[in-house]
Amino acid sequence: GAPVEVNISKLEPGQMLRVEWRGKPVWIVRRTDKVLANLDTLADQLRDPASDEPQQPEYAKNPYRSIKDEYFIAVGLCTHLGCSPTYLPKSFEQQVEGVESGFFCPCHGSKFDMAGRVFAGVPAPLNLVIPPHTYVDDATVLIG
Ligand code: FES
Repeated sequence: GAPVEVNISKLEPGQMLRVEWRGKPVWIVRRTDKVLANLDTLADQLRDPASDEPQQPEYAKNPYRSIKDEYFIAVGLCTHLGCSPTYLPKSFEQQVEGVESGFFCPCHGSKFDMAGRVFAGVPAPLNLVIPPHTYVDDATVLIG
């Protein structure tokens, strides 16, 4: 499939853009400073906090799993059986205490933080997949 060019200039903090790439949903979320600070506190609740597992680009092997801290880009499919998790920007606390935003998979209850890292004790075995992508300029990202 051809790469997909996305204009991110209108994305507000907290918002998510959804695009399709190779028949899969890809999410682009603009993270707030508060969300980034929270990510730094979650390591002991996660299955693979440092993203040591393979199957992701080298530039995603950091705690934020991204090229730019502010923008989180992931394939929006649960690594358990492929349902699309729900983005809960404000009500994730019902899933994980003390964590305001995250992704919840309605199929079997897997939970992911705002870097797509899977919480321990849920069916999904791996963090969400980061698709290959590059920034063309500050306003434009190319997926694929
Ligand atoms: Fe997401 Fe099973 S498909 S938890």
